[in-house]
Formats: sequence, C-alpha cells, structure tokens
Amino acid sequence: MSRTIIISNRLPTKVQRTASGLSFQPSEGGLATGLGSIYRADGNVWVGWPGLFVDDPAEQAHVTEQLQADSMAPVFLTEAEIRDFYEGFSNGTLWPTFHYFSEFSLYEQAHWEAYVAVNEKFCQAVLALAGPEDTIWVHDYQLLLLPEMLRRERPEATIGFFLHIPFPSYELIRVLPWGAELLRSMLGADLIGFHTYGYMHHFLSAVAHLLGLPNHNGQVETPDRTVLVDAFPMGIDYQRYAEAAASEVAQAHERTYREYLGETRVILSIDRLDYTKGIAQRLRAFEVLLQRHPEWVGQVSLLMIVVPSRDQVAQYAGLKMEIDELVGRINAQYRTISWNPILYFYRSFPFEELAAFYRLADVALVTPVRDGMNLVAKEFIASKTDQRGVLILSERAGAAQELADALLINPTDTGQLAEALHEALQMPPEEQASRMVAMQALVRQYDVFAWTELFMNRLAYSKIKQETLATD
Ligand code: G6P
Repeated sequence: MSRTIIISNRLPTKVQRTASGLSFQPSEGGLATGLGSIYRADGNVWVGWPGLFVDDPAEQAHVTEQLQADSMAPVFLTEAEIRDFYEGFSNGTLWPTFHYFSEFSLYEQAHWEAYVAVNEKFCQAVLALAGPEDTIWVHDYQLLLLPEMLRRERPEATIGFFLHIPFPSYELIRVLPWGAELLRSMLGADLIGFHTYGYMHHFLSAVAHLLGLPNHNGQVETPDRTVLVDAFPMGIDYQRYAEAAASEVAQAHERTYREYLGETRVILSIDRLDYTKGIAQRLRAFEVLLQRHPEWVGQVSLLMIVVPSRDQVAQYAGLKMEIDELVGRINAQYRTISWNPILYFYRSFPFEELAAFYRLADVALVTPVRDGMNLVAKEFIASKTDQRGVLILSERAGAAQELADALLINPTDTGQLAEALHEALQMPPEEQASRMVAMQALVRQYDVFAWTELFMNRLAYSKIKQETLATD
C-alpha cells in the first residue's frame, strides 16, 4: 500500500511543559487543518519537531508514544540544533533573506552545518517510515535540503515541496553563499509549489541564473528529471471560521467586550511578533490618523494582538521593545480616562475569543511589509457573516493577489495607510457588503481542502508525467 508522509519543522500538535508535566494541544494552524484528513488516514504519518527541548530518554519515549497515537512521528532537536538550525540558519538567515531583509541575515558556517545535519536527521526519520514508492510532501524553508536528500535514497518516491513564505528575486538568493545548493536541493522534488505566480517566477529565474537550467512553462529540465513548478494559493477552513463567528460563545464574548468598549469603533490587528509584519509602521499610521483626523480621537481604538514568537532571535527582541515604546508613547499622548487609543495584547488567544474579535472589528489592518500569503486576512473575511467590515491589506502579502476587493495599500507609506483607515471607517455599509461578498465567494471556494487536493492531484500527475517521459 502506498502511504503519504507529511514533513514540516513543526508538528501540528503543540507540546508544552507545564507545572504538571507535558501537555499536548492540537495546533489550530491552517496547515494542520488542511492536512488533517490526510495524515490521519490509515498508515500515513506527519514527521516534525515537537517544538520544545526534550533530552530525557524516558520523556522522549512518552512524547513519541503520545504523538504516535495521533499519526505523528517526532524528530527531537538538541539545544545546539535549536540554536544553530532553528534560530540560526532557518530564522537568522533564510527567513530574513526570503523576506527581503537581507541586512539582518547571518552568514555563519556553523549555522549552515547545523542546517545540513538537521535536514539529514529529518531525512533519516522519513526513511525509517517511508517505502520506496510512497508519496512524501515536504513543507517550508526549514527543510529546503530534504527533497534532494530523500531523492538520493528513494529515487522512485513521489516528492512534493511547498514553500509557505515568499520566494524572493534571484538577486537575494545570489547573496546567499549556499544559494545554488539550496536551489539544487529543492529540485529533488517532483513538484514545487508556491503561494503566488510571482514567487514561482522568482524561483524559475533563480534556477535559470544560478544553475543555468531553463524552464518550459514551469517545467525545469534537470540532467536526469523534469520538475514541475506551480502556484497554489493556500486557503483556510472557511466553514470553521464562519461557524465559530456565528456561535453563541463568540457572541457572548463579543457582548462582554462591547460592555467595556461602548460605541468605540474597532480596528483589529493580529500577528506573530515579526519584523516582516509591519507592526511598527502600522502603529505610526494609526498615530497619523489621530493627528490628521482628530474627529477619530475618542471614537476608534486599535485592538492589537501580537503573538510571542522566536524571542531568542535578536531582531525579535529588539522589535518587541520598539512596539512597547510606540504603544506607550501613543497611548500616553492621546488616551483619556474613558478611552484607550491602542488596546495592546502580547499573547495568544483561544480560538473562540479570536472569533469574537473578528466579529467586533470594523476594520482589519493586515499590513505586512512582506508575507508569503497571510491567512489572517482570509480568517477575517470568513468571520464576517453579516458582510460588514473592511479589510485593509498590504499589496506585498500573497493574499493581495486574490483579494482585489480589499483596500490595497503600500505598508511603508504611513500617509496612505492613515488615509485608508479614514476611508474604511467611513465606508458606506453597501460598499462594505459588496466588497465582502466578492471576497467571501473566493475564500469559500478556494479553501484549505481545495488547496490540499489541488496540490496532491498535481503531484500525482507530475509523477505520471515523469514515467511517461521515461518510457518515451
Ligand atoms: C511561518 C512559517 C512556518 C512556521 C510559522 C511559525 O508561518 O512559514 O513554517 O511554523 O511561521 O513560526 P515558528 O518559528 O514558531 O515555527
């Protein structure tokens, strides 16, 4: 029987250390939902890091057993690997480079060596599970070397790779000392997927410039194989968000928040703490709105949720300080006894409370300076069951390629952003509804299940094509 093996750096279960021992929580991430029906099917498995450092062998055995019961296989990372592979090469080199922040990129040989070693570790974990003809789907920038490593050992396997972050212009890839090797390794896959055609073209151009391999309509001819490259914009579980927003629990939360907020209008912002998300620029734009349009003072609040992330990486700690300082300054200048300009939360929230925040919001402010896709924009749309609300969206988020009915802005243009806020807060309900209905139709149709099916079908097709070419 042919099996499917999913591999990502993070498993779809959050394992956390609590006072009473280890806790296992299903992750609410889009990927976990979309692939849920696949990895839980008979014999299939999801391979990944459980997200925390576990060195005690008895504890490792316990984690393995718990995860195995839910079709997962853990890859444990040592403290040095977390530092050099995860914080180092993945999030200190690849993340900034691929998001056009190459001034933040580290070029450390030791980080690269850890990246190679951990990709090899993942490879061994997969080989222990995979048969010669299984389907293997590798995810994201932490595992760029894996397709080629697997191909060497399992030449007949069907291997797909999907990148969840932007693929930048080849000018950035050529700056990386290991750029060509990364590209060659990705080409170990049969199918390589990106969120947008733009990323796909950047990849093909990097492959042409740095490896000298041309492509024909997205098919790259390597010396021994043909690799398909295509765009698959990822979606969300639309029904889950729509139902959560309509639920009695979410409505009850919303009523509670409204008691405190009164008539105040709400602008919502939800992100992981990351310099790619444009959080500081967004705060400055909100300040410009209050300066230029003082009629909003006392009338509108920015409800800003920042979810802690990667706090051991230097730039993240620095950004946290910058945000704290900006929020403090703006609130100190504008607040009144009964009104807070910015309601800032530095933590994550349970799903039902997020659903209530989406309900509550008049405007969602999704303004990353770079973002592979951005699913918050889609979650907001799915949650607006009354078709009220305005999405302000960065033109540099992958989602902007699909959501043309949002107010599209340049996230570094604080003046333009402030004016978009002013416009959104005054938009007539009919215009809100017509934009929202159009975006809902699209987000509902291209949901995460459609995304998974499309990728898997195309992957199966790429293999059939390879075999046909081989026998021609
Ligand atoms: C982005 C990446 C994912 C990553 C997630 C959370 O969405 O594309 O691969 O898992 O951020 O980041 P973390 O470093 O906490 O896994």
